[in-house]
Amino acid sequence: MTKPRILLTHQLPPKAMSLLDQHVDAELMDSDTINQSAIIEGLRDKEALLCLLTETIDAEVLSASSHIKVVANVAVGFNNIDVDKATALRIPVTNTPGVLTETSADLAFGLLMASARRIVESEKYLRSGQWHGWGILQFLGTDIYDSTLGIIGLGRIGKALVRRARGFNMKVIYWNRTRLPEDEESALGITYAPFDEVLRQSDFVSVHVAYNNETRHLLSHREFEQMKSTAHIINTARGPIIDENALVEALKNGGIGGAGLDVFEEEPKVHPELLTMDNVVLLPHIGSATIATRTKMATMAVKNLVAVLEGKRPPNVVNPEIYD
Ligand code: GLV
Repeated sequence: MTKPRILLTHQLPPKAMSLLDQHVDAELMDSDTINQSAIIEGLRDKEALLCLLTETIDAEVLSASSHIKVVANVAVGFNNIDVDKATALRIPVTNTPGVLTETSADLAFGLLMASARRIVESEKYLRSGQWHGWGILQFLGTDIYDSTLGIIGLGRIGKALVRRARGFNMKVIYWNRTRLPEDEESALGITYAPFDEVLRQSDFVSVHVAYNNETRHLLSHREFEQMKSTAHIINTARGPIIDENALVEALKNGGIGGAGLDVFEEEPKVHPELLTMDNVVLLPHIGSATIATRTKMATMAVKNLVAVLEGKRPPNVVNPEIYD
């Protein structure tokens, strides 16, 4: 029996590749030349698309490819896909929730620690041969234990961050669009506060909302002005949630103390001034980057794709209304 043909934008971890190969005939794109028109071209004779968050699957791509049966994204976030357009065309879009929660929270906490304790900056100093001995005033950072962590967006990853913060005896306050039930708040040991209060009271603010039109530039000039001048902002969610120009200004004029960033407004571009600053830690979007987690994410995406091709409802559909 001939297998359905699908378009795969990038090579996946080996286990996911072999699962994929059992079910479909995948055409692998050339990573260096991927753009919207190459995707449209590649999809002409395919039944489905398996892509990463780096691909923009906009209305143009979807309209030109309205024959496809599914767009399977290897990510929990799906802001790279015009889901409304896909829904209008009755194309299911799938994502990979849950499997990257703990790994992403680990990295958020790692960035918090790196930023607070100036780990990257001091490591660079040592490597460059500038270290000539212990100094009582060298690389003085900010204490993590007993400090206040403010979490903006308390979904799966935000809650996993709470569990890490508990080990450091941090006080955790949070803001979320909808407040959690009280019993869940007390089980987690966290306190709800209005958005501005979270900004005002926190020593560390970590961002965990989904990115959409409402959360674009959720943190801009006004918000950085609310924060303590010693506070650190951590972003492992999506770059455009933070107004990068406003962040640069706040870091430059002492409005806030530091930043740990895994995501940027226009990846892979990074604001040139951020690259020159010592009080920022900059990572190349590696939040979910462990062998185990990337394997789980890719396998989950393959299972979503195969389910649709077998005529079933995929386990992780982000536009379930098309099945109503
Ligand atoms: C990673 O950034 C994801 O959304 O899975």
